[in-house]
Amino acid sequence: MRNKVTIVGSGNVGATAAHWIASKELADVVLIDIVEGVPQGKGLDLLEAMPIEKRDSHILGTQDYKDTANSDIVVITAGVPRKPGMSRDDLLNINHNIMKNVVSEAVKYSPNCILIIVSNPLDAMAQAAYKMSGFPRERVIGMAGVLDSARFRTFIAQELKVSVENVTAFVLGGHGDTMVPLARYSTVAGIPITELLDATTLEKLIQRTRDGGAEIVKYLKTGSAYYAPSAAVTEMVEAILKDKKKILPCAAYLNGEYGMKGLFVGVPVKLGAKGIEQIIEIKLTPQEKAELDRSASAVKELVAVIGV
Ligand code: LAC
Repeated sequence: MRNKVTIVGSGNVGATAAHWIASKELADVVLIDIVEGVPQGKGLDLLEAMPIEKRDSHILGTQDYKDTANSDIVVITAGVPRKPGMSRDDLLNINHNIMKNVVSEAVKYSPNCILIIVSNPLDAMAQAAYKMSGFPRERVIGMAGVLDSARFRTFIAQELKVSVENVTAFVLGGHGDTMVPLARYSTVAGIPITELLDATTLEKLIQRTRDGGAEIVKYLKTGSAYYAPSAAVTEMVEAILKDKKKILPCAAYLNGEYGMKGLFVGVPVKLGAKGIEQIIEIKLTPQEKAELDRSASAVKELVAVIGV
């Protein structure tokens, strides 16, 4: 049986995710968008790259949700991205309205799918999608921690001049200015980075991670990051489709874990065929817990505005 992944939104994040997923032959991909012609054009263009890539992934661009039927995973990237000077939170109402239509159409045709939410502000959009879909929490996952951790890993590897492969890192909390890069649980070949970097350098890398999205927006001016965000989506898709039981930081609906209830927050989860198969609770110092709580409060405020 071939896997099927639908990507809603054929902008930079959606199209690039389709590219990674198809070129790794993880699944057939349906690219859907309300903009006429763009998903069809990008989908066909990508399909025509497959003979060169030696991949038999099928890619279809469409405007019709019927074509998305029975997807294993639906990735939602639809929405408007940030412009310089905007925060992710400025996108709240407009992207919430877009999300309403997308989620109802997507789940109508793929009632058993796993939803991966990418639209910003991430945690609030994931919570909106969770409520609208009526899905169990295992099947609604927000992409943020993998991206934020990848940025942190990049900066650590650059600073220490080591392979990125040696660097693991965890960033928890909401995908916003209050995200919580956890230095204590970030390592280079198993060595905690707190033993390799002085406090000032570490703080600099942590702040750059928090500002990672804005740094790209500032350069691009007309949009936000997409290579790393779509690579992050692809890692999550692969973990699910291959039932890898991979532990990754993702936004998940907490039901008492970390002392929080009824809220999407970025935490380490185990991703496998069923979606979120476990929420991993790691021990936090009082300061780390306070930072996570502060980050969760920021998410709570947004969620209250849109009433989800
Ligand atoms: C970023 C956007 C996608 O962090 O939230 O780049």
